[in-house]
This record gives sequence, structure tokens and C-alpha cells, in this order.
Amino acid sequence: MATVYAVGVGPGDPELLTRKAERILRNADVILAPVSNPSEASVALSTIREFIDEIRQEVIVHQFPMTADRSRLLPAWQEAAALIAAHAEAGRSVAFITIGDPLFYSTFIYLLRILREQWPQLPIEIIPGISSINAAASEASLPLVEGDERMIVIPATAGIEVIKDALETCETVVLLKVKPLFSAIVELLRAQGREQRTVFVERVGSPRQKLLTDFEEIAAHSPDYLSLMIIK
Ligand SMILES: C[S@@+](CC[C@H](N)C(=O)[O-])C[C@H]1O[C@@H](n2cnc3c(N)ncnc32)[C@H](O)[C@@H]1O
Repeated sequence: MATVYAVGVGPGDPELLTRKAERILRNADVILAPVSNPSEASVALSTIREFIDEIRQEVIVHQFPMTADRSRLLPAWQEAAALIAAHAEAGRSVAFITIGDPLFYSTFIYLLRILREQWPQLPIEIIPGISSINAAASEASLPLVEGDERMIVIPATAGIEVIKDALETCETVVLLKVKPLFSAIVELLRAQGREQRTVFVERVGSPRQKLLTDFEEIAAHSPDYLSLMIIK
């Protein structure tokens, strides 16, 4: 039985991959890369391309629909878990790659539950990755928290009321998945006078990185899925 690895590949810059991740990726028999839209390249796979050998290693791109509808997600998770288990049981090591960190809002968390439940004998190793939040804070030279300060991370899809509450309680609020509620978030931040305290970062660590600190520029932008905001 071979090992299943969940490898955090960081936010998109190949230099932000750990040495351990690089070693495992170079040696894995199978690399499994998640995509949400089959017509779009996997960000995780583009990040690691220079470390793998696509002739010697098998690269599988697996689609996970971008939806909150569990009835559509469950079959995709189950199928991916079965694929991973089949390779590992046949003696082929599998590296499931994930952007940022594998245990931080990642598809791997669902796979991990299924694998542990249905294939409890499989050895699983998790390799942490640099999360988009740390990479974004570094690019912006913005301290996330210091001293007794508190930070909260919210997938903005949780709703405007949740964001409002967080802004009242914590010194630092990080919003992920900002795209669907972007205009409502901008409106809230303006109403609360947070214009000077907001940083927007899109595709950090990639050639398409965009870092905005001017609130009017932020408000005028239309973000893509890989965008976050840090509000102090
Ligand atoms: C499903 S979560 C994945 C988080 C990831 N596991 C991590 O550790 O960063 C997806 C959200 O993370 C944020 N994100 C991930 N990669 C990013 C990047 N390169 N630049 C900006 N935000 C990113 C975006 O808010 C995106 O909507």
C-alpha cells in the first residue's frame, strides 16, 4: 500500500512551495489536481509544473463542481476518493495538490473524511502550504495581528451580517471568496468608514497578482474567484 499525500502548494508562486512539498511531488507516482471548471487550467498544477515529469508521473485533473450543492459535490468527492484509494492500494503513491494549505478551506478536507471512513488502512500524510492570507499580507507589508489583537477569517459567502459582526469584534478581518458579494462588501466598508483600512489582493503570487489599497480602485474593480480582502 502506498501513501496518499495532500500537498499544499502555496498561493501560486513556485518559489513559495516548501522543500518537503517539492520532494514529495518529484517522487509521487500520481498527481491529482482539482479544477472547478474544466476549461480553466488548475492553478495548483500550474504552480508545480516545473517540479514534475509528466512522462514518468501520471497527472490526473479531476473536476469538482463550484457549487454549495452537496448533492452535486458528494459524487465528485466520492469518485476522487475512490480513484486515490485505487492507486494507493495498487502501490502507487498519490499526491493530491491544493492551493494554499490543504486543511484551510480546501476540497481535501472532504476527501480526507471519506478516505478515513472508507479506507481507514490508507496511510495519509499532509504537507502544509503557505496560505493565500499569509502571502497577501506579505505582499502588502501589512501585519495581520500583533499583541492581543484578534483576527477572524470569513468566507464572504457567509453573508453581510456575519461580516458586519466580525468588523465590530476583531481588529483584523480577512474575507475570502469575496467575488459574489463584492459590491455589498464595498458598500458596507464605505458605510463603516473603513476605506483607509482595506487591502484587496487578487491572485497573489502569480504573474496576474493585483494588490489594491486605494478604496476607489478597489470599488471599481471586478474581482475574480482568487481574491481576498484584509480589513484592519
Ligand atoms: C477554497 S479557499 C482556498 C484557500 C486555500 N486553501 C489557502 O490556504 O489559501 C479559496 C479562497 O482563498 C482565497 N485565495 C486562494 N488563493 C488565492 C490567491 N492566490 N490570491 C488571493 N486569494 C486567494 C480566495 O479568497 C479564494 O476565494
